[in-house]
Amino acid sequence: MIKYLSKAREKELTGTALLRLDFNTKNEWRMEAAIPTIRFLLKYADKVVILSHRGRPASIKITAGKPKGFDNTLGLSRDAASLRTLLGKRINFLSDFDFPAHKKFIAESPRKSVFVLENLRFLDGERKNDKKLAKKLASLGDFYVNDAFAVSHRKDASLAAITGFLPSYAGLELEKEMKFLSRVMKKPKKPLVVILGGAKARDKLGILEFFKNKADWFLLGGAAANTLLFLKGVKTGKSLMNGDADDLKKLRRVLGYKNLILPVDWLAEKSAILDIGGNTENLFLNKIKNAKTVIWSGPMGMVEKRKFSGGTLAVAREIAKNNNVFSIAGGGETVTFLKKHRLAQKFGFISTGGGAMLRFLAGEKLPGIEALKRNKS
Ligand code: 3PG
Repeated sequence: MIKYLSKAREKELTGTALLRLDFNTKNEWRMEAAIPTIRFLLKYADKVVILSHRGRPASIKITAGKPKGFDNTLGLSRDAASLRTLLGKRINFLSDFDFPAHKKFIAESPRKSVFVLENLRFLDGERKNDKKLAKKLASLGDFYVNDAFAVSHRKDASLAAITGFLPSYAGLELEKEMKFLSRVMKKPKKPLVVILGGAKARDKLGILEFFKNKADWFLLGGAAANTLLFLKGVKTGKSLMNGDADDLKKLRRVLGYKNLILPVDWLAEKSAILDIGGNTENLFLNKIKNAKTVIWSGPMGMVEKRKFSGGTLAVAREIAKNNNVFSIAGGGETVTFLKKHRLAQKFGFISTGGGAMLRFLAGEKLPGIEALKRNKS
C-alpha cells in the first residue's frame, strides 16, 4: 500500500524529511511543481533535505566525499539558488558526499532548515540502485518522500532501494500525477484524442499500444509521424526518424490502426519535414474541437524555430479553447512551449514527466512508485 503524504498523520511527519525531487529541466517548472510539497513538509517536519539529479554525468571522481572535475552545469548549486528565490528561504547546499558530516550539520541546524545535496548521479551507486548508497542517503532523514515523478521510471538508489530503510510516502505532486494519469487511462471521457509528437518515435510505442482500442483518434506529428510516413512509402528525405528493427516492426503494426491520423501535408526545409501543414492542422483541430479528453506529448514540429512552431501553437490553442475537454500535457518541450505561450494554465493537468509519463500511460509499472508499495513500516 502506498502511503500518501497528504493523508499522513502529523506525528508520522516528525524529524527530518528526506525529499526526492527532479530538478532536471532547463528552466524551473519542475521545481515550481514541488513547492507545495516543500511547504507542506516545512509545516510539519523539523527539517527538509532535498535529493535530486541533473543530466547523465559520466563517472565522477569522488575523493574523501568530494566530487571532482565535473561539468559545472551538472552541479546543483544553481538549483539551490533558484530554490532559495522560489521559496524565499535560505537553502543550505551540501556540496559533497560526506554523509556523517552532513548528518551532524543537519542535526545542529535550526528547525525548519532546508538542505539540497549535490547531484546524486555523481555517485556511482545511484544508477545501480545500490543498497549501501541508499542506506547512506537514508541516514540523512527520518522519513522519505518521493515527489520526483519525472524520474520514477528509473530504478535508482534514491528512488527504489531507499524505501527499504525509511518510512516512505508519495509526495503531493506524485499523488496528483498518479491520480490524473490513471483517470485518463481507466475512465477517459470520450472522444479521447491522443496527440503524439517530439523527437523520439520509439518512446511513443507503448502509449500507442496501450490506447489502441481506447483512443478515438491518434494525431501524430514529429519523429513518430515521419517514421510512419516513411514506412508507408512517403519520401521523407532527411526528416528526423528513429527506431531499431524491432521498433519499426511494431510501428508497422500501428500503420494498421483505424484511429491513426498522420500528416497529409507539411512544412519542410532542406528535405526535412519540420512542421505539420495547413491541411493537417485542419484535420487535427477538427478532432480536438470535439474531444472530451486529450492526452498530449511532444510538439508537432521543430518549435525552436518560430517558423516551424505554427502547427504546435494551433494544436495548443484549440485544446485551450475547448471548454468541455479534460486535457493532460507532458514532456519537457511541450510544457516549456505551453508555458512560453501562457497556455499551460488552460490545461486540466500538466505532467512533470517526460519518459515517466509515457511509460505510466503505457501501463508500465514505475520502479519509484512500486518501491513505495513495499516501504518500511
Ligand atoms: C527526465 O528529465 O526525464 C528525468 O529527470 C529522467 O532523466 P533520465 O532520462 O536522464 O533518467
